[in-house]
Amino acid sequence: MKVTFSKGALPTSGALAILCLSGRDRGAPFAEIDDASGGALAAAAKAAGFDGKKGQTLDLAGLSGFEGRRVVLVGAGKGEAYSPLDAERAGGAAVALILKTREKALAFALGGLELGDLSAADLAARVAFGARLRCYRFDRYRTTLEKDQIPPLARITVNTPAARARDAFADLEKIADGVDLTRDLVSEPANILYPESFAQKCRELESLGVRVKVLGEKEMEKLGMGSLLGVGQGSVRESKLVAMEWLGGKKGDKPVAFVGKGVTFDTGGISLKPGPGMEDMKWDMGGAGAVTGAMAALAGRKAKANVVGVVGLVENMPDGNAQRPGDVVTSMSGKTIEILNTDAEGRLVLADAIWWTQETYQPKVVVDLATLTGAIIISLAHEFCGLFTQDDDLAAQLLESGEASGDKVWRMPLTKTHFDMIKSDIADMKNIGGRDGGSSTAASFIGNFIKEGQPWAHLDIAGMAWSKKATPTCPKGGTGYGVRLLDEFIRTNYEG
Ligand code: BES
Ligand code: MN
Ligand code: ZN
Repeated sequence: MKVTFSKGALPTSGALAILCLSGRDRGAPFAEIDDASGGALAAAAKAAGFDGKKGQTLDLAGLSGFEGRRVVLVGAGKGEAYSPLDAERAGGAAVALILKTREKALAFALGGLELGDLSAADLAARVAFGARLRCYRFDRYRTTLEKDQIPPLARITVNTPAARARDAFADLEKIADGVDLTRDLVSEPANILYPESFAQKCRELESLGVRVKVLGEKEMEKLGMGSLLGVGQGSVRESKLVAMEWLGGKKGDKPVAFVGKGVTFDTGGISLKPGPGMEDMKWDMGGAGAVTGAMAALAGRKAKANVVGVVGLVENMPDGNAQRPGDVVTSMSGKTIEILNTDAEGRLVLADAIWWTQETYQPKVVVDLATLTGAIIISLAHEFCGLFTQDDDLAAQLLESGEASGDKVWRMPLTKTHFDMIKSDIADMKNIGGRDGGSSTAASFIGNFIKEGQPWAHLDIAGMAWSKKATPTCPKGGTGYGVRLLDEFIRTNYEG
């Protein structure tokens, strides 16, 4: 969906959305339409009990004196403490409502409205961003649109005199492109998206100026990546490691590295998962999806920073050649791992992907993202990802980026105790630590592959990559979680 900006007259067809303050003065856009309708708008809002509370919406069809257009009101509260995220939610809420009405076009009438610290241009851009994000659909496998299914919107226009609105939207649009790419990757079924086809998707970022390197099994064998390769050895799909380099910063500056778990399907392997719900494991590449989408966003908006995104791509299958519980593998770092559960595979993939990243790039900082444990969902439900790091400064940066971007983050503990819990009787470590503190022991496993002095944080996004419920800015399904977080993290800490 391309959102366009217009300074011209309000369109006379389709639907009109306006932000509406609570209290007596409901803001200029409301007043303008109310006048045009001879007071019918205010009367209808009053009759419906709409008082402009933040997030409240009202659909008014066939307003008298108004050319039969439909007006959607979105409450903005008192408009004082109004954040960019509030504006995005307003834009998305209007789209969500209008989609159900089967209107073809939606125009936001914002006038020169300013709310909170948002200038008219920023408000318009954020509303457009939210609207755009809510328009996402994954319908490439539908051959027909049934009557009860909602058709997509054809047009969204943001009507505002603010001169800079389109400029303010330019970067946001690139971020939305990244979010939508991640949603696509996460939504694709595993017969379509497997390590090789995922790597191909990464290659498409070359058109944005990203340098892409793909390693196959032969190269990874030479490098000694026994940990990653062991996970994929039961699959007929070849495992891949992909590095995406965006060099928009100072020449020679060490990059920030993002590393993603890309298990394109996780059956559990020989430690097979139960059948019900196993289809969800098509999105066990959500970390890799977020890293890829973030690279697309950063390159798309030409971020002034050096960033590398690395994704470890494997399929975890049971098979005559699959790895067994009890097997011992040697990772690229030289450390050995006793595999006690083949379903704890994400950490095995990350172990080699992260080691390779450190050896290849000597990154300033490593942040890994993974749909790593069911335990993090028990802890944090679907509201936050779990943040694990022993670096307080890095934790503060990521928590702040979470607040600003809306991709929320909650810090979890990672201590020596957790490292002790994965000691093995026969190898350097084992790949599970039991049920207790399962997300923290998983993090400690990854921590064993971080070099001395290397700043590192791990984000367990198992509860965030997919949503069974829609939110104002995201339809149900793949959320694109992590793209905005990583983009914000780079913007505030590594640019300018
Ligand atoms: N991909 C799963 C984690 C997961 C579970 C993500 C549910 C999203 C929803 C991961 O590979 C896994 O299977 N983890 C096991 C680890 C256990 C065997 C130590 C888990 O969480 O049960
Ligand atoms: Mn698993
Ligand atoms: Zn997994």
